[in-house]
Amino acid sequence: MRMVDLIVKKRDGNELSDEEIRFWIDGYVKGEIPDYQSSAMQMAIVFRGMNKREVSTLTDCMEHSGEVLDLSSIKGWKVDKHSTGGVGDKTSLVLGPMVAACGGVVAKLSGRGLGHTGGTLDKLESIPGLSIAIEGQRFIDQVNSIGIAIAGQTKSLVPADKKMYALRDVTGTVESIPLIAASVMSKKLASGSDGILLDVTVGEGAFMKNMDDARELATIMVEIGNRLGRDTRAVLSSMSEPLGFAVGNALEVKEAIASLQGHGPKDLMELCYSAGSIMLVQAKQAKTYEEGRKMLKEVIGNGKAFEKFVQMVEKQGGDVEYILHPEKFEVSKNVIEIFAEKDGYVQSINALEIGESSMRLGGGRATLDDVIDMSAGIVLSKKIGYKVKKGDKLATVYTNKKESEYKPVVEDIKRAFVIVDYFIEEEPVIKEVIG
Ligand code: URA
Repeated sequence: MRMVDLIVKKRDGNELSDEEIRFWIDGYVKGEIPDYQSSAMQMAIVFRGMNKREVSTLTDCMEHSGEVLDLSSIKGWKVDKHSTGGVGDKTSLVLGPMVAACGGVVAKLSGRGLGHTGGTLDKLESIPGLSIAIEGQRFIDQVNSIGIAIAGQTKSLVPADKKMYALRDVTGTVESIPLIAASVMSKKLASGSDGILLDVTVGEGAFMKNMDDARELATIMVEIGNRLGRDTRAVLSSMSEPLGFAVGNALEVKEAIASLQGHGPKDLMELCYSAGSIMLVQAKQAKTYEEGRKMLKEVIGNGKAFEKFVQMVEKQGGDVEYILHPEKFEVSKNVIEIFAEKDGYVQSINALEIGESSMRLGGGRATLDDVIDMSAGIVLSKKIGYKVKKGDKLATVYTNKKESEYKPVVEDIKRAFVIVDYFIEEEPVIKEVIG
């Protein structure tokens, strides 16, 4: 078999056999197939797509490209959650402790941010001392003792995805339904949870720009998971504006803390209640979504979800003082406020622009080796549907960059807000539930 023939086959719109997909992934992981050929194949898939069998085989080959976690020694039904990426998406930091405080067993492996989307691991690492490198028995022991751990992927878990994702990021091949489905599901299957809740984001700040594509992606992932015996369900959530108000690592952790203390933004909390109630049913802690929602509201109200977060931070070596006194988080040297230039209603806030701006302020990586400024980012004061008056604050920008560097970014953030003079309804965050 020659890789070039497989590329040509896919380029011309033909199906790849299981053996051909296996040949590609095995060869690529072993270093026998070079990046440029894998990249050409990925681009052919972007244009030609894959059928369900091909996606399923690709997922299987990627899942088994390395170690597969055995969580059987963790008591109870383990649940995991994965978002296809967004701006201001601190859901896992709030949702994980909420579900664990209700008795759900949360064994979560998270990722880092790249490009305009943030990553849970970077956010967690803005808490001084906290380690996300909890592997093997330590991961299992932590989940068994407090019901939750959020860790980074080990080197040996799904190495195919690690190589392919990095390549996709620099070759314009991220936005592909089969490639995203295989990337997400290979990781979720390899990390061993019994229940998987997928948050498929849709809108300007997401990889899926419209509902048809988001639905197709969610459906294919749900089918793959269920076929392999995992209880897999999905929510389709809006990413047409950033989630919550804060964008940027430490800023988002502070918002997550406030949310766990009962002061969360409406959209973020609705996503947590909807996704969390599904996870509680998957974890066999609630019989219905309604019962799950009630339980989640209770642990926010009585402080148990916040306590669980504190426990998790402590177990993972983080300085709990920062959680109890979030004012301890370092504030950037430069704090710039942006004001509305006219009266009206906020029609849209370009989430992609806000995500990219946060990255340019120092809050994200343009390349894998970039060092993140944990204090950098943006805090919105207004969301879609809010009424504004000329001179009202729209957002606050935090950065340690020089004025010449941050000035154009501030202008872009200003332009990300569209204000119109007619009434605009707030958008619901949950667009659909699948499964
Ligand atoms: N998240 C992933 O893990 N993989 C993708 O391809 C996109 C989002």
